[in-house]
Amino acid sequence: NKIVVAYSGGLDTSVMVKWLKDNYDAEIITFTGNLGQTKELVGLEEKAKKSGASKSYVVDLTKEFIDDFVFPALKAGAMYEEAYPMACSIGRPLLAKTLVDIAKQEGANMVAHGCTGKGNDQVRFEVAVGALAPDIQTLAPLRSWEFKSREEEIEFAAKNNIPVSATKENPYSIDENIWGIAIECGVLEDPMVEPPADAFQITVSPEEAPDEPEYVIIEFEKGIPVALNGKEMDSVSLVKELNKIGGRNAIGRIDMIENRLVGIKSREVYEAPAGVILHTAHKELERITLEKSVAHYKTQVAQEYANLIYNGLWFSPLREALQAFVDKTQEKVTGMVKLKLYKGNLIVSGRTSPFSLYDPELATYTAADQFDHKASEGFIKIFGLPYKTINRVMQKAEAE
Ligand code: ARG
Ligand code: SIN
Repeated sequence: NKIVVAYSGGLDTSVMVKWLKDNYDAEIITFTGNLGQTKELVGLEEKAKKSGASKSYVVDLTKEFIDDFVFPALKAGAMYEEAYPMACSIGRPLLAKTLVDIAKQEGANMVAHGCTGKGNDQVRFEVAVGALAPDIQTLAPLRSWEFKSREEEIEFAAKNNIPVSATKENPYSIDENIWGIAIECGVLEDPMVEPPADAFQITVSPEEAPDEPEYVIIEFEKGIPVALNGKEMDSVSLVKELNKIGGRNAIGRIDMIENRLVGIKSREVYEAPAGVILHTAHKELERITLEKSVAHYKTQVAQEYANLIYNGLWFSPLREALQAFVDKTQEKVTGMVKLKLYKGNLIVSGRTSPFSLYDPELATYTAADQFDHKASEGFIKIFGLPYKTINRVMQKAEAE
């Protein structure tokens, strides 16, 4: 047996390496994907080997993540339950894809992940692996192993000389990548408790933010952000820079009760400065470039698309078909949006596009007005006809 393990270097996945090796009599290869998280990944290969792995991959996937996963979802306007830009949900399919690639390359027949049995992540991993490689079996030790607590895992680690970081245990469970951070557990499990300052990793509170507003100008080409404050930037640098700018102005904190696929309502705290800024700017540019019925229809597509990603169906025919629709709508979503950031407020303050459908001669209330006011008379007569008819019919019926 050969198993490729999705490995973070944390307690669960470190214990998992040794546990799988023993219980499946297997050779263990670890894979860690770098999705642009701020946490350093140095020393992971060594750590994996000390836990019992024979080989270990650390792969930088940041650019692929942004270009092939995050930006397609941004173009779709995909926000789960209208609020969550889905950093974690969009990352899983790429991790699953790379896991499968490595498994094939190594001739492994099994892969394993360290997700719990009550979350979304297990579904995302397993559905994606199945869709990409139906013959590869996915193992989820956390659903079945004997350890009932962190302490038991630590005990097992000590007995087997598995290195676990000596640092004090974080009171939260944190999942992080360049598109955002998810913070769960600890005091956050009480939905009435305001997240303490130490829960946040990359944003300041509105109270701590500067007293002066900061402006950003974001340029898009066909729905893709390409420049920031007049400077062309590669996708990864642009997102990183927006995380910094947003973070120091208290932008991108999200505190919500969320419906998981497995039927649980959970309290989630997120930080996604770049995600929130880019979604807001992109939406605004669509307001000026998309024809009304396309814009309205697209909000329905956005919701469906977000549900698909959240529910682990990135690699599905429907997601791909919706992507084709989305990409078609983005052909003229080119232009720039100006935003004001001030103490946690994100305020759109300007937008322009070479394909702007905003026609000043139609919109103006000055003498330059070209709109045919008289044409409205006949339009309203016919538009309102059904409602007049209802009233007439009812009056007649009541009189009889
Ligand atoms: N509820 C969020 C989601 O499903 C965040 C999950 C966080 N994942 C984690 N392993 N802590 O996308
Ligand atoms: C987990 O339980 O593995 C993380 C939470 C989630 O997947 O929603």
